Amino acid sequence: MRSSLLLLLPATLSTLATAVAIERRHNRAWPESIRAFYTAVSDRLSTLPPKTISALTSTTCNTGSPSMPTIPDLPPVTDGLTLYHVAVGRGTQNYTCNPNDPNAIPVAAGASATLYNTTCISCLAPLVMAQLTGAALAIPTPKGNAPLFPAQAFASGQHYFTGPAPTFNLHTNAHNYGIQFAAVLAKVAVPEKMIKPGRNVGKDGSKPVPWLKLSSADSLAETAPGVQQQALRSDGSPVQEIYRVNTAGGSPPKTCDGMKKNFEVEYAAEYWFWRR
Ligand SMILES: *[C@@H]1O[C@H](CO)[C@@H](O)[C@H](O)[C@H]1NC(C)=O
Ligand SMILES: *[C@@H]1O[C@H](CO)[C@@H](O)[C@H](O)[C@H]1NC(C)=O
Repeated sequence: MRSSLLLLLPATLSTLATAVAIERRHNRAWPESIRAFYTAVSDRLSTLPPKTISALTSTTCNTGSPSMPTIPDLPPVTDGLTLYHVAVGRGTQNYTCNPNDPNAIPVAAGASATLYNTTCISCLAPLVMAQLTGAALAIPTPKGNAPLFPAQAFASGQHYFTGPAPTFNLHTNAHNYGIQFAAVLAKVAVPEKMIKPGRNVGKDGSKPVPWLKLSSADSLAETAPGVQQQALRSDGSPVQEIYRVNTAGGSPPKTCDGMKKNFEVEYAAEYWFWRR
């Protein structure tokens, strides 16, 4: 167990405990998704003996036996891979429309999001994380270096597209966890019974984008047309697979009726990075 985990963990949990105290005072003022997040935090803390909270050990932030959320038809992580990083992405999914054809279907045109490091809490409290993306969607994307409310998670990178390749640039002034270029292996729509207005549906009515399994490899980006090879080295990153789960918002309207040529839909999602 790396010592950085031990140092970061108490801060993470005490922040959550403070969040619960805030929740008790302002309960009715929060949107439903934020209340659901705090309730999940409360529930998780109540399962931990007080002694554990005040004297945390490595076993309370064990990234060795993580439990990534899944839905039917989402292919499992390849045997033998271990967890590398977990981040919550908060930003927009981009689409294009033909403004002259109201019956046309919006076409995906990339995404842009800030990634917030939630590795520790995602392993410690997966049920809390299941509520975080909905809570994050209910409030604007944090500005500058501000942490992601309400989890107080700090940025670990940016998600954008390099040509057609989804890109996860986990390099900030604070840390360098590498850069990943990915390709979609599987795309699974969120089951209807998991779609909940006020939770994982945007204020604009946008449903959660599908969950994804992506593969990550330097070679993918090198074949992307119009992209300079030089910019594409990922320092021999060990990351092999990336999952997008616990999605909130981000889906386009059914048709282009009333939409601009280029538009954005707010979303949040949890990304799990697996290494060899
Ligand atoms: C940030 O990410 C690194 C690498 O995955 C991890 O070791 C660390 O525990 C994370 N920090 C938090 C607060 O989750
Ligand atoms: C779409 O995403 C890019 C980042 O990839 C961003 O710069 C752009 O402003 C976004 N919005 C639109 C409407 O194109």
